[in-house]
Amino acid sequence: MSVIEAVDLFCGVGGLTCGLRSAGIRVRAGYDIDPVCKYPYESNNGATFVTQSVAELSGADLANWYSPGAIRLLAGCAPCQPFSTLANSCEKKDETKWGLLGEFARLVRELKPELVTMENVPRVTNHAPYHGFVRTLKEMGYHVDARRVRCADYGIPQERRRFVLIASRLGPASLPPAFGPARTVRDAIGHLPELDAGETDATDPLHKARSLTPINLQRIRASKPGGTWEEWPEELRSPCHKALTGASYRSVYARMRWDKPAPTMTTQCYNFGTGRFGHPEQDRSITLREAAILQSFPNDYKFVAPGETAHFAAVGRMIGNAVPPRLGEVVGQVFVAHVNDAA
Ligand SMILES: C[S@@+](CC[C@H](N)C(=O)[O-])C[C@H]1O[C@@H](n2cnc3c(N)ncnc32)[C@H](O)[C@@H]1O
Repeated sequence: MSVIEAVDLFCGVGGLTCGLRSAGIRVRAGYDIDPVCKYPYESNNGATFVTQSVAELSGADLANWYSPGAIRLLAGCAPCQPFSTLANSCEKKDETKWGLLGEFARLVRELKPELVTMENVPRVTNHAPYHGFVRTLKEMGYHVDARRVRCADYGIPQERRRFVLIASRLGPASLPPAFGPARTVRDAIGHLPELDAGETDATDPLHKARSLTPINLQRIRASKPGGTWEEWPEELRSPCHKALTGASYRSVYARMRWDKPAPTMTTQCYNFGTGRFGHPEQDRSITLREAAILQSFPNDYKFVAPGETAHFAAVGRMIGNAVPPRLGEVVGQVFVAHVNDAA
């Protein structure tokens, strides 16, 4: 059986790496500029974290990680800020990041790995750097499968939509269609110990719920799973709720439902006011551990070193920015089957 080895560009805390490893791929190293990701990346995945910009790397640097004879996978999830709705309104501020997908393409040209995968927000396809990336792959003879996916179709208990590209020089490979029943919030986090707002579980420092102000406590008590703030008594509503517009205005200050996948975990997923992040029945927002599990991280994934405090903003950003490990696992399983077929 051929061995697949990988390097993960823009590796963050290792969501993609964790999933690829579960599929049997040996991830040798990850590159990221954010040093706080080093501890979670290395302690959970046994791969080396290199604090270095992808823009400074060469194909020769990457080649050093792979063993002779291994099938080489270059994986990466370039920062999606340039492609997010928010960034579209202030593109100029983020212009430096537009080049990062181009740097990924440059490294593919220099390394010529057998396999490539890239994950991003669905809107990536509206932008020129994405089309340059695909052009590079096709000119180099890669078979490319690129599509928008619904994470819930692959056993992730979350309504997240992502864009996944897989490419191979060994022949055509593609993501499978949806499989298995959708996992629900109950399936994922129903077993966790109960907590009040502001409490931390004694055995897991990540199972901690943000405190709520007295008015927000009244609001969550008035919220039904799957309901909206429009059902609250008038005195609990604020002018800012009434001023909200657009498709998502009903999904702030709201509880998730037990029997459905969760909404997309954002970097603010621990915050009752920023999405449907209220627990289905306990009067609090979801904890950092619940958010990580809803992203399909293993139940015991470590985000901060022993003795360090898990700060909501810092860990929320790690969780919300991650590729769901289960999505990485599905991609990894496709590559493993593909390489075995090609052997
Ligand atoms: C969407 S996150 C990646 C998530 C990660 N793949 C995971 O699965 O957990 C994007 C990452 O790109 C990193 N980043 C931004 N600019 C970078 C650069 N020039 N070189 C390397 N990493 C960079 C950020 O620090 C962030 O961790």
